[in-house]
Amino acid sequence: MAEINIMSYETVALDDERSALVIIDQTKLPSEVEILHLTEQKDIWEAIYLLKVRGAPAIGVAAAFGVYLAAKQIQAESYADFYTKFKVAKDYLDSSRPTAVNLSWALNRMEQVVLSAQDKTVPALKALLHKECVAIKDEDVWMCRQIGEYGLTVVNDGDGILTHCNAGQLATSKYGTALAPIHLGRERGMNFKVYTDETRPLLQGARLSAFELFADGVDTTVICDNMASQVMKNGWVQAVFVGCDRVAANGDACNKIGTSGVAILAKYYGIPFYVCGPTSTIDMSIEKGEDITIEQRPAEEVTEMWYEKRMAPEGVKVYNPAFDFADHELITGIITEYGIARPPYTQSLKEIFQKKQEAQKK
Ligand code: MRU
Repeated sequence: MAEINIMSYETVALDDERSALVIIDQTKLPSEVEILHLTEQKDIWEAIYLLKVRGAPAIGVAAAFGVYLAAKQIQAESYADFYTKFKVAKDYLDSSRPTAVNLSWALNRMEQVVLSAQDKTVPALKALLHKECVAIKDEDVWMCRQIGEYGLTVVNDGDGILTHCNAGQLATSKYGTALAPIHLGRERGMNFKVYTDETRPLLQGARLSAFELFADGVDTTVICDNMASQVMKNGWVQAVFVGCDRVAANGDACNKIGTSGVAILAKYYGIPFYVCGPTSTIDMSIEKGEDITIEQRPAEEVTEMWYEKRMAPEGVKVYNPAFDFADHELITGIITEYGIARPPYTQSLKEIFQKKQEAQKK
């Protein structure tokens, strides 16, 4: 059987007939493409926690589908009863990962649907929730495409682009955020040279970004995280594109651990550093990066995963934060679906949200 290109798979989908969340198990990539149909809430929670589905926008879409599937199962005599049960399911999924704001953003949107339809019957509430989760996914595709369009305005055909982690199609519904300009450029016959940091400890760069870029025919080179400086010094990188999990109101951008170091290097070598993310990843209620909760993950991800034998002494202390943030002063621009925010971000991010509001009024 001919091998199917990973770019033709959906990262996150809803199989309403089978009441299942459908995802690619990303922990198995790139060696195995296994599609999971998840029907139980605990399996959906675990899929998010274990990074079977991952990347801020994809987590948001998965959670929206997940809570809809939970709502579908609810037997309730009254609105109050339905809401109480819905809230339990929502809070449960919300507890799966703390840093990417898209998770709570999507779940809050779903809750808002219930809260603003108190006069509706239980079947009508379920139908409204279905509509909303499908809209969340459709909007994600549109947002990523727009980010791709804006991203393409700051690079030239043939440029070298360095990226960290995976903020590609595998992290969203389509195109990705940081990789959107590259995929979109590819559709238009452009050829970028992409350097993907392997991204210790979970290797999203080497396993996922390299996989999807390579599958899309992009000139892709995997580097260890500690090689970024040399690659920049060689003059091979004209721009850095990274994704984000939560951007604070001052522009501090939280993303996969190591992003802050890449931003510092880019500044040193005079390379523009762009953070790409939809407005669903911008959290205006958080003032600065220091206020963002950083997920701490199990030590074994550092000492055991990817090794045949444990590679660090038994019992040694391990520090394994999943994210850090790039200080706003290091960021050249934040590329959103409503344009590119430039410093000072306290002002430009507000303007991005104003544009969004105006567009939604139309
Ligand atoms: O732990 P992960 O793999 O979910 O982390 C993913 C990232 O840090 C991405 O860069 C971010 O979520 C943006 S995805 C478009």
